[in-house]
This record gives sequence, structure tokens and C-alpha cells, in this order.
Amino acid sequence: MNYVIGVDLGTSAVKTVLVDQQGKVAFEHSEAYPLSRAQPNWSEQNPEDWVKGTLVSLRRLMEQSGVDPSQVDGLSFSGQMHGLVLVDSEGKVLRPAILWNDTRTTAQCRRIEQTLGGKLIDIARNRALEGFTLPKILWVQENEPEVLAQAHQFLLPKDYVRLRLTGDYAMDYSDAAGTLLLDVAAKEWSAEIAEAFNLPLALCPKLVESFDLTGTLLPEIAGETGLLASTKVFAGGADNACGALGAGILGEGRTMCSIGTSGVVLSYESNKDLNLEGKVHFFNHGEKDAYYIMGVTLAAGHSLTWFKETFAADKSFDELLQGVGAIPAGSGGLLFTPYISGERTPHPDANIRGSFIGMDSGHTLSHFARSVLEGITFSLRESIEIVRDSGKEINEIVAIGGGAKNETWLQMQADIFNASIVKLESEQGPAMGAAMLAAYGSGWFASLGECAEAFIRPAEVFKPNAEQAAVYDGLFSIYQEVYGQTRGLNDKLAAYRQ
Ligand code: XUL
Repeated sequence: MNYVIGVDLGTSAVKTVLVDQQGKVAFEHSEAYPLSRAQPNWSEQNPEDWVKGTLVSLRRLMEQSGVDPSQVDGLSFSGQMHGLVLVDSEGKVLRPAILWNDTRTTAQCRRIEQTLGGKLIDIARNRALEGFTLPKILWVQENEPEVLAQAHQFLLPKDYVRLRLTGDYAMDYSDAAGTLLLDVAAKEWSAEIAEAFNLPLALCPKLVESFDLTGTLLPEIAGETGLLASTKVFAGGADNACGALGAGILGEGRTMCSIGTSGVVLSYESNKDLNLEGKVHFFNHGEKDAYYIMGVTLAAGHSLTWFKETFAADKSFDELLQGVGAIPAGSGGLLFTPYISGERTPHPDANIRGSFIGMDSGHTLSHFARSVLEGITFSLRESIEIVRDSGKEINEIVAIGGGAKNETWLQMQADIFNASIVKLESEQGPAMGAAMLAAYGSGWFASLGECAEAFIRPAEVFKPNAEQAAVYDGLFSIYQEVYGQTRGLNDKLAAYRQ
């Protein structure tokens, strides 16, 4: 039996999976790493922690599985998107990585809009949002010019780890699309955008497809991980593109809802000229010349984790969610908006914050827990409505991530989205997409679609309940009012945030 390895470089941990030729996960391993929030809007990580975690995780995977390294045909990556890693000409990291959920760059976003006007959407196909990479580069340009002056190239998180594993500098299209420096439809770096901000085009690495071979393991890395130096390393993709591959989102109209730290509604798109005026993200997919549109809830699973840690730290997630099924839809008039770290879709607003509206002395912890789940799901429905408004029919959605692990939440997604929700047999999220890129790159299949057919199996379908869906339709329109009603208040409260 031969294997491939998928490495998912996440925000809180790196996960590695060893996958066989039927798509079965033979072994998996995770290594966590810290995140630093030195100031309220900042979110940084030390790239060295990613490298260390990846090497330990690969070594454990090989040790525990007992698989002979000659049976591993290839390895590929999925990575947290947008994070800025600046390296000098020797590949040395120049400052901590500024992550996707760091929102210090509002002023730089306004500068990008003022400088580029409509060209930003025409070329980069996305709005200037705090999380994206170009605003982070401009923040360094304005605040740490001496650092930018030493920079040879900028890389995204998984590209830096791949550089350390292989010595090769590259970035794939699906991740490059999240930088705002890529001409998304032409699949080349935009000289026009780089010049507008006095950035040398040489700062941008070589572009490759997600399934392209980018080298083999350096001998010392092979020694440390227990893999062979001849192991092929394929470029890999953005975590959302890889999540989509792993959920089989490889055809027009296929849609997924991923609830992890952030939440994502993602729909396959083959028309490179589709212009939704930046209402949702428009990125290159991991499949050649394919695209996807995507809406993002910044704090999806994060809202639930925050709630549990703050108000029910002594309970496990299962205990917290146990009573939720007995609470009626609408949580007894309690409504939550998950804006605890600002929001992206449909409100690109780093200043907005969350609310519980309608608190009543009769509400219990279970009411609150249910309203958190409902609020996260309403926020994702906003993205679904934008995709529906673009003319796509969404009747079936593949659920992945933490949100696919709880049956009450899966049924809630069916009722709130008014669509059938498909739960997969072995849901591995982006790590499986990364393994699929290695499998396809290694020549196991003629296409990624064929690979998806062999690897991905549905387990269960949750159908919408018409009565509950009608209740949620009513609540959704109240939910949609909360942003406008609380925006001004939050702008004033921002002065008190420490
Ligand atoms: C997407 C985004 C997040 C990160 C999480 O635009 O910012 O989903 O990719 O890793």
C-alpha cells in the first residue's frame, strides 16, 4: 500500500494525516503552537513554531504508523491564509508573522481603496480587508520601513514551512489570491498594484499550481522526520481551497459550509469573469483554472470557544451543548451576533462587536449556548443569500469542521440555510484536501475530481424541517437588523477597548 501526507498548517495547530490509496486516514497527529496578541487588534505567530510543530508531527506520524518511508509517495500542504512572512535573501524571517485575524490595518485598507479605486476589484477581485496580505505589507512599510528594506520576498505561512522543508520559494494561486497583489483572472502578479505602492515585483515569489511539484525534502529534514529525502513535495493550497477539495467542491454549484475558528460559505465557480463587486471573496481554487466565491464569518467556532471558556470553563463542549436540543428555535427570544472580533461578510467592519439581545431572567446557560450556535449560523446564512442572489441555486451544502460534529447544529444549519446538509463519512477538512493534492500530483488519479470520487463518501443528510425553517426565516430578518442598530454604539465603545 502507498500513502500520501497532508499537512494542514492551522492557526492553533498543525495537523498531519497519512492517507492511503482509498482515501482512508491511516494515522493523524496534531501539534499545537501559541498565538501572540500583544495589542488588542494584533495577532502574530513565530514561524519557527510552525516549522518545529510540523517536523514533530511528521516524525510522530511516521513513528506511530510504522509505515516504511519508501511507501510515502508525496506530501502537500494546506495553510492558514493571508499571513505575512517576510524573509531576507538567506530565507531568514525578519519579524513575527502577522496573521489573517490581525486587524491593525484599517488605515492601510483605506489607502489601498483611495489609491486603486475600482481597479482593486477589477484586478484583485476582492475588497481591501484588514486580514489580507497587502495591507499588512503596507503596515510594515509605514511602521517598520527598515524591516521591509531588508525583505527579499514575502511568503504565506505554508509557503514558509515548505521553504524550510525543501529550500524552494513558491506560492500557489489559491493562496496568492488572498494577498490582493494577484491579478486573479490572469493568474499573474499585478505590476500595476505593486507599483502603485512602490513595492518591487521581486518581493513576490514564483507562482505555481497547488498540485505542482516544488521539490523534495532537504536531507536534514528527511533525517528529522523519518521520511526519505526523495519524498516529493507538492505546493499545496489555501486552507479554504483545500477544505473545498476535501469536501468534494469540484463542480458548478457545489457549496460547502465550514465552521472552524472562522466560518466559511464557499461555492465553486468556473466563470473567471463573475463580478460580485467584492461582496464575497473571489479566489482561485486548487483545481487548475477554477475559482470559488466565499463569505467569511470571522468568529464562528471562535465565538463558541470564547463563550465556553468565559462562562462554562468547567464543562466540555459536549456537556455545554447537551441541553441545547431541548431549547426551541429562537432560544426563547435571545439573539446573538458573532462579531466578537469584528466581521467580514456581509459587513467588512473591524470595529463592530457582538451582542446578546433579549436577555431574560428565565434564560439558562443552554439558551445562551443555543443562541450562540444560531447567531453563528445566521451570520453564515448572510453569505449564502449573497451567493443565491448571484443566481446560484443552493439546495445542498456539505458541512465540514467543528460545526459538522454536532447533530443539533447540523439540523440547525439545514433549517437556517433551508438546504440539505451533507455530513461526510470521514471528515478531515483541509488536511484531506492537502493529501488529495499530493495524491493527484503523484499521479494516482487523472484529475482532482476523480480523486474526490475515490476519497470522499457522504455519511448522512440532514433535511430542512419546513416549520423550523419558517421560524428561522422570521428570526433571520431580526438578526439582519442588529448590525445597523449596534454599529454606532460600537464605534463609541471602541474608545474603551484595551
Ligand atoms: C479566509 C480567512 C480564514 C483563514 C483561516 O479569507 O481569512 O478563513 O484562511 O485560516
